[in-house]
Amino acid sequence: MQTTVLQRPIDRVEADALIVHHFSGGHRAAGATGEVDRALGGLITELAARGDLATEVGGVTPLFVRAGVAAPRVLVVGLGDPQRADAEAVRSASGAAVRRARELGAKRVAIGALGSGVGGLTPSEAARATVEGARLGLYRYRAAAAQALGGHVDHGVDELLIVVPDAERVEAVSDGVRWGEATADGVELARDLVNLPPNVATPTHLAAVAEQLARDHGFAVTIGDRAWAEERGMGAFLAVAQGAGHEPRFIVLEHDPSRGKEAPLVLVGKGVTFDSGGVSIKGRAGMEAMKSDMAGAAAVLGAMRTIGRLRSPRRVVALVPATENMLDAHAYRPADVLQASNGLTIEVISTDAEGRLLLADTLAYAQQLKPKAVVDLATLTGACVVALGRGTAAGRFANDDALAARVDAAGAATHERVWPLPLWPEYLDDLESDVADMKNSSGKPHGGAPVAAAFLQRFVDYPWVHLDIAGMALRDDARGYQTKGATGYGVRLLVHWVTHA
Ligand code: BES
Ligand code: ZN
Ligand code: ZN
Repeated sequence: MQTTVLQRPIDRVEADALIVHHFSGGHRAAGATGEVDRALGGLITELAARGDLATEVGGVTPLFVRAGVAAPRVLVVGLGDPQRADAEAVRSASGAAVRRARELGAKRVAIGALGSGVGGLTPSEAARATVEGARLGLYRYRAAAAQALGGHVDHGVDELLIVVPDAERVEAVSDGVRWGEATADGVELARDLVNLPPNVATPTHLAAVAEQLARDHGFAVTIGDRAWAEERGMGAFLAVAQGAGHEPRFIVLEHDPSRGKEAPLVLVGKGVTFDSGGVSIKGRAGMEAMKSDMAGAAAVLGAMRTIGRLRSPRRVVALVPATENMLDAHAYRPADVLQASNGLTIEVISTDAEGRLLLADTLAYAQQLKPKAVVDLATLTGACVVALGRGTAAGRFANDDALAARVDAAGAATHERVWPLPLWPEYLDDLESDVADMKNSSGKPHGGAPVAAAFLQRFVDYPWVHLDIAGMALRDDARGYQTKGATGYGVRLLVHWVTHA
């Protein structure tokens, strides 16, 4: 799909569908909506007065028109209460409206930058949110195209026109469109990687994607194999990989415009390409969802794509430990004692608590980079989903208040919400081991998410935020700019954090 900024009076835009917005609460049609209303002889005002317009956020009322405007269909999309219309409302409205246009068969869809002016967003912010919402709402997983990074994904809409009424705004809107496009590119990559089946989205596939990103954006890339990890004493990561049929990969991807001068922001993503539980095998029901156990890795790679496209001035390093968690005669087992690269020994209680093992070696590796800050994303515990629900918020753990505040702000701005959970040392009591420095699981049914975070903290000596995204990777339905399946959660949060750090 091609996105183009078009400066033209809105009633003269030639498209298969023209999208305008309307607020709730008896608001007058203004701006682009006002012009279309006048061109249609006051039709929108009349429908609004009669209560025939869906004005809640994302409500769509299609009008089929024969005269007045060049487009044969005008879709009026609700933006809700103008006092509360923010970027999230714009993304949702844009996504819902453009998807409806596609259902109606439109190939060329025109839309103004929703929410600028009355909504309180600048023209650039409005354009960015409109494009993000439209692209993400139209997202479709296409296995064949998605396998080749940069492959053309058929959105079902060929052209998205962002209509600007006056010349003064073209530059600001174009800038917003550029950001929206770069962001959508990253989220689409993350969604594709999570949606891909686990026999395709293997550790070597993730590594190939990282190498392609390096070529596209001039990143430095290192792909560590088993021998590489052995040289570095990554006994915890390697233990998980021991029973895997697909070879593990440890991915280091670096964007460094500072040429080594700046301390990096480090993004860590759990990359378990399939989590069977290992010898502590999971139940059969719903196990297919465990292809999403690399959603943290997908978010980090997606964010790197956006960061590369935006040519961010910040130094950013992405770390992805990638392996399957499978079981064969070589698989690691409960009671095994492992040694992580920082020397700590770990008694395995559950081979299903594998995420913290790969993250242990990765967080220890991050230390060598002398990071300014590290944020990890991991589908780490079912307990976090029990605590916060599905699709609501990631659990946020932090050892640094200033960093926590920035990550929280990024979560709020992008509506990729996070919610604070504690990192108290008492949680470590449950991990005391008779034979090692720590157990990898308490074996108890309580406090799963903070106990896992406390385990990770023992490998950290820098400002750090851990996001437990177990409940955020997949969703069951499409709504607004969200589509069924992979959400791409975390890409927009990470990009916001990096660009505001
Ligand atoms: N990948 C799972 C966590 C998960 C659960 C992600 C549900 C998404 C949805 C993780 O590796 C796991 O199995 N965690 C165990 C930890 C336990 C053994 C301490 C869990 O949550 O049960
Ligand atoms: Zn597991
Ligand atoms: Zn897992």
